[in-house]
Amino acid sequence: MSTFEFFSPCPRGLEAALAAEIAEIGAQHAPLDTGATVPGGVHFAGDWRAAMAVNLHSRIASRVLLRLAVRSYRSENDIYSFAREQAWEQWFGPRQTLRIDMTAVKSPLKSVDFATLKVKDAICDRLRERAGDRPNIDTVAPDVRVFVFLDATHCTLYLDTTGEPLFKRGWRLDKGAAPLRENLAAGILRLTGWTPGTPLYDPMCGSGTFVAEAAQLALGIAPGSDRRFAFEKIRQYDITAWQAMKVAALDARRAARARTGDLGIYGSDISGDMLVKARANLERAGAPGIALKQVDARFLSAPSATPGVLVANPPYGERIEVRGRRGQRDLGDDGWDSAPQRGDARVGEREGTGADADFFKAFGDTLKQNFAGWHAYVLTADRGLPGLMRLRESLKTPLFNGAIECRLFRFDLISGSLRRG
Ligand SMILES: C[S@@+](CC[C@H](N)C(=O)[O-])C[C@H]1O[C@@H](n2cnc3c(N)ncnc32)[C@H](O)[C@@H]1O
Repeated sequence: MSTFEFFSPCPRGLEAALAAEIAEIGAQHAPLDTGATVPGGVHFAGDWRAAMAVNLHSRIASRVLLRLAVRSYRSENDIYSFAREQAWEQWFGPRQTLRIDMTAVKSPLKSVDFATLKVKDAICDRLRERAGDRPNIDTVAPDVRVFVFLDATHCTLYLDTTGEPLFKRGWRLDKGAAPLRENLAAGILRLTGWTPGTPLYDPMCGSGTFVAEAAQLALGIAPGSDRRFAFEKIRQYDITAWQAMKVAALDARRAARARTGDLGIYGSDISGDMLVKARANLERAGAPGIALKQVDARFLSAPSATPGVLVANPPYGERIEVRGRRGQRDLGDDGWDSAPQRGDARVGEREGTGADADFFKAFGDTLKQNFAGWHAYVLTADRGLPGLMRLRESLKTPLFNGAIECRLFRFDLISGSLRRG
């Protein structure tokens, strides 16, 4: 069986976490060799089974790209000749639609768009010559995507094996206000060191990304078990191995449905509407039994007697909603399985940085008072957050949420000595 070189991009800051995850997938599902970890992704090598397994099982990768060829270049014409030489007809035909994406870093070329057109022309000319016709371009839902990476001296051609990016698991019904990408949430869970069996709590769960990712992990549901992949439309992929992998993933998903026990995974949010969305997302993610509750994060209590991991990405740069009647601490029914109320009343809403400061101080206070022994992780673009919360972080990890540079702050809620004043 042929061995190929692959590259998996991921959110920046999660490269080491992805490398560890790919190594685990290799050990469990298909032999592979992890290669270099570079800013923005991880190289690995293996046969088709490796690419299929990483597509199906990676929670952190954004895609899996098959590296076809790399060569030095100086001009657009060099790129055209290089692309024209590749045996594209081995991978796809003129009836399949095509999209080309190019990324250039320190490239001497004047126009990335023009270079992209050159690659498109080269592939179309090659297929017209070898297969009698050229493929149509479809930038929205193409059958085949070719990725081109240009650095100062070299051009690398990749064939995408993924299609829609891997953070699209297929379970998200409604995006909510500002959902985290699923692969960023999963990477953060890995950075926290959380493992199934330890309590996990997201007190600003929004559409439920952290809890859905954690629940699928705990239940052994493969993140890609409910979606299709671009390799399914590529010639040469190993269809027999894929069918076996897919059947195993679907069996595991079905078996998870039968597991009704408490997973120790909890979510809450002040917004009843968000909880309705989170509930629908969890249902589609195959984890309907997760406990959700409507609570203002200023007034939290620990959801379990055993300390665990609290993880949250609070609102940032937007009005912090502080809703509910003053003095009413818990806006939902008693118990963690209560159904959220729709369209909760908005009373006592405040806005502005003063309100933000009040909110984060109250959030910090509630953590100090009610979460002794827990480890709290907060993702934010606000570097001043520990000061606002009056807590001293024990660790801060730079991460990118899309283009936004963030920090994942860790707070060890052990004793009063953490107070800043
Ligand atoms: C950035 S979003 C979190 C998104 C979430 N991680 C997801 O992936 O969908 C922030 C969330 O904090 C919630 N929120 C705002 N004020 C709150 C408060 N006082 N108490 C609890 N939740 C609050 C919002 O309703 C929103 O769902």
